[in-house]
Amino acid sequence: MSTFHIEAKQGEIADTVLMPGDPLRAKFIAETYLENPICYNRVRNMFGYTGTYHGRKISVQGSGMGMGSIAIYAHELIADYGVKQIIRVGTCGALVPHLQLGQVILAVSASGDSSANMIKFQEGHYAASANFELLVNAFQKAKELNISTVQGDIFSTDSFYDDGPQRWDKWVSNGIICVEMESQILYTIAKKMGARALSLLTVSDNIVTGKAATPQEREHSYKDMIKIALEVA
Ligand code: HPA
Repeated sequence: MSTFHIEAKQGEIADTVLMPGDPLRAKFIAETYLENPICYNRVRNMFGYTGTYHGRKISVQGSGMGMGSIAIYAHELIADYGVKQIIRVGTCGALVPHLQLGQVILAVSASGDSSANMIKFQEGHYAASANFELLVNAFQKAKELNISTVQGDIFSTDSFYDDGPQRWDKWVSNGIICVEMESQILYTIAKKMGARALSLLTVSDNIVTGKAATPQEREHSYKDMIKIALEVA
């Protein structure tokens, strides 16, 4: 059995899937943190691995960038492989000056400009939100691990390059703290299909101050986020 984009056989993918955007990140996470990782997907080099973490079966699947891409993988994982929870582990650009590079964010809700959501909800604006149990669990696990987190409302955009930071003023004045490109449709699909989803994000750049993390800084803070995700999983 395979889908358009995933060549795994039935049973090769765990109930819980960690989803970084970058498929090489998926490979890195699997090879670094999981015991006996096995690659189940090479289609389009969008690598997916299954292994165990403290004896528990977990998969890691690259999502690609943007809502069009993550929507495909989230849909096929849930609909065709019976996946029950997806934990996105990604990066974001901070929209408020006080958010430091490397800060881990638990995305409570994801507003956005995704045409995918606009096609689905033409007569209103759907409130895409995290699974509450996963969110609370991540909050508590981070505390136990002594990793600071910020819980907040985020924005998912289809457009990485914008006309300027002023685009974000009205969103920030309505409580949005950072921007990325995947969570809104992930939350929508998970709710629709009866699965649980949560996005954990690390601040890789600050759009207000212009600061961007070095690769070493990114590596370090990314590890904190992965630790939380693995404990939640
Ligand atoms: N914009 C959109 N997505 C992002 C950013 C950004 O600045 N940083 C990380 N993901």
